Amino acid sequence: MFSRIMATGSYLPDKILTNQDLENIVDTTDQWITERTGIKQRHIVADDQSTCDLAEFAARNALEAADIDPQSIDLIIVATTTPDRVFPSTACLLQQRLDIHGCPAFDVQAVCTGFVYALDIADKFIKTGAAKRALVIGAETLSRIVDWTDRTTCVLFADGAGAVIIEASEEPGILSTHIHADGSFAELLTTNGGITDVGPDGLDNILIEMKGNEVFKMAVNTLGRIVDETLSANNMQKSDIDWLVPHQANIRIINATAKKLKMSTDHVVTTVQNHGNTSAASVPLALDTAVRDGRIKRGETILLEAFGGGFTWGSALIKY
Ligand code: UT7
Repeated sequence: MFSRIMATGSYLPDKILTNQDLENIVDTTDQWITERTGIKQRHIVADDQSTCDLAEFAARNALEAADIDPQSIDLIIVATTTPDRVFPSTACLLQQRLDIHGCPAFDVQAVCTGFVYALDIADKFIKTGAAKRALVIGAETLSRIVDWTDRTTCVLFADGAGAVIIEASEEPGILSTHIHADGSFAELLTTNGGITDVGPDGLDNILIEMKGNEVFKMAVNTLGRIVDETLSANNMQKSDIDWLVPHQANIRIINATAKKLKMSTDHVVTTVQNHGNTSAASVPLALDTAVRDGRIKRGETILLEAFGGGFTWGSALIKY
């Protein structure tokens, strides 16, 4: 038994923050952001919206594309680093909104690799027969934990959600998934606090901290290795990949991975210019963009890959 992607969906909040807008917030320029990251604009959540709101829009968008009854979903996984609450999980909050009852629903926290982790888990549920139809989502409101005084990070991160529905199939589908972590690098990309730091007045601001340069180098090297691992596990050549759908952190990291694959940028889905780095939402957002605009077609082979805080990293090779 395999799992295959039935449909994709996504949602981006209405508010757009451009590089020019950021020039009024921190000491930066459109030129610096464009040259060093490829980002031109990003979407920012409305004050009254939460991660679950974004996840719900993306989920409904995917359910509509799949044209299925939500009641047929028997597994919900939400990858997020910015859950609405400490508990219940965003997946349980979403389950309630979709009026689905009884099936397992849980969050996965693997930062920018979260969606690939969630897909790996959902694929295993389906392969073992524990689920038949899974809703897998990456959703983030990173703007809520960005330090808007830190120009090295606030120009990068943004908000959004992407979703896929996968179902059991006798034909592949998801060919393989590969997930990894090395917690010894935790301090290079982290938050300045969490539950351990809750004071008498509750949670203080939790803010992203990153040693960008070191993360950059690790990302480029590690993504190169995961490409090799994925191809060799499937006995495939670089030329067998039709589309690379990478995590959208930085155009220079994306281009380095494409170069390693000897892929022309025509076959690399890039949304970083419009979305910024939406962490767990970035890969499913890029996937949905290229499915809906007709670039990715049924039967094509696509490689999803991601790298992020933890460090965590992973890939999924998919016959769409
Ligand atoms: O999603 C999880 C994975 N995350 C990533 O993969 C992010 C990886 N890191 C990166 O994408 C890049 O390292 C950054 C985009 C964060 C930074 O680019 P960089 O080419 O590594 O720049 P840098 O950190 O080496 O900084 C170069 C210069 C510094 O000035 P000095 O010390 O040379 O005078 C920074 O202070 O650029 C300065 N700088 C800025 N200047 C204008 C840093 N941020 C900005 C800014 N605007 N926003």
